[in-house]
Amino acid sequence: MTHDIGTLKVTSLNSIADLDRPDVETIFQLAKRVKQDRFDFPKVLKDQRLAMLFEKESLRTRVTFDVGIQDLGGSAVFLDHQDVRLGARESLKDVAKNLSRWCHGIVARTYRHRTVLDLARHADVPVINGLTDYLHPCQGLTDFFTMTEVWGDVRGRTFTYVGDGNNTCHSLIHAGALLGCHVRVASPEGYEPNSKVVNHAMNLAKESGSEITILEDPVEAVSGADAVYTDVWASMGMEEETEERAEMFSPYRVDGKLMSHAKSDALFLHCLPAHRGHEVSSEVIDSPGSRVYQNAENRLHIQKAIMALLMQRRS
Ligand code: CP
Ligand code: NVA
Repeated sequence: MTHDIGTLKVTSLNSIADLDRPDVETIFQLAKRVKQDRFDFPKVLKDQRLAMLFEKESLRTRVTFDVGIQDLGGSAVFLDHQDVRLGARESLKDVAKNLSRWCHGIVARTYRHRTVLDLARHADVPVINGLTDYLHPCQGLTDFFTMTEVWGDVRGRTFTYVGDGNNTCHSLIHAGALLGCHVRVASPEGYEPNSKVVNHAMNLAKESGSEITILEDPVEAVSGADAVYTDVWASMGMEEETEERAEMFSPYRVDGKLMSHAKSDALFLHCLPAHRGHEVSSEVIDSPGSRVYQNAENRLHIQKAIMALLMQRRS
């Protein structure tokens, strides 16, 4: 039996750039419903199995996909890099084809973005990007869902990302541009977001009415902002650059002084894990304006919505 939960125009979730505004609204509406009704929501994924392929560490993504599919009546099987050695022990095609015979969906967290694209190309079931070096779409959707919960609508608001122009930053740029939120990014020279992402967002922004601004000065970027976001300075896989980045990024630390340039009721968000005293001070992340735990909770609801929309059996 199918339940009336809506549909998406995509069959896998690789990037927010593949979605349109109605798709995001469908995800947000369903996330709101599953959040209100956590355990009484119909078991739309009853007996469905999710394969979780993770080349990198995780707390939030791993737990929320696993708990999320259980909430919806299914179950997950976790495979780490040692188990599968994607593309080394056997081809990506064979991994995707085998998993498609046993499971109804795949969530993949990989280094190379191409790996997720190739898995989706070969799989006969939906593939969900659980983070690559390039994008983190489930995170970007969750962050804008949290801001929508707080403000009602993100249109016309100013969202500022401070720090490394990384995977999380890219997905946030896509989401803001799609949803009509002004996006400012402040990064040190050489660490700006990818120009392909920025150009794509600028095109989307023409339709949604948002402005995308890439800056170097964190104070200018934060001035008058409704929300300020940061992420780690050295992402997973860049651990050997940690020291050099710490020096380069120290003017980009989100502390009370930097936040004082934002609106007085500005929100603070971070995808987590956070490093207090590095990219964010304790006074900011532990302040009343910080929504980091609400946001972490929302990963569960957004991903339940994504799984339900992509994996619900149509027959
Ligand atoms: N924010 C996030 O994706 O957290 P994990 O790396 O713990 O999954
Ligand atoms: N940019 C970070 C996000 C972690 C959720 C990383 O890739 O490590």
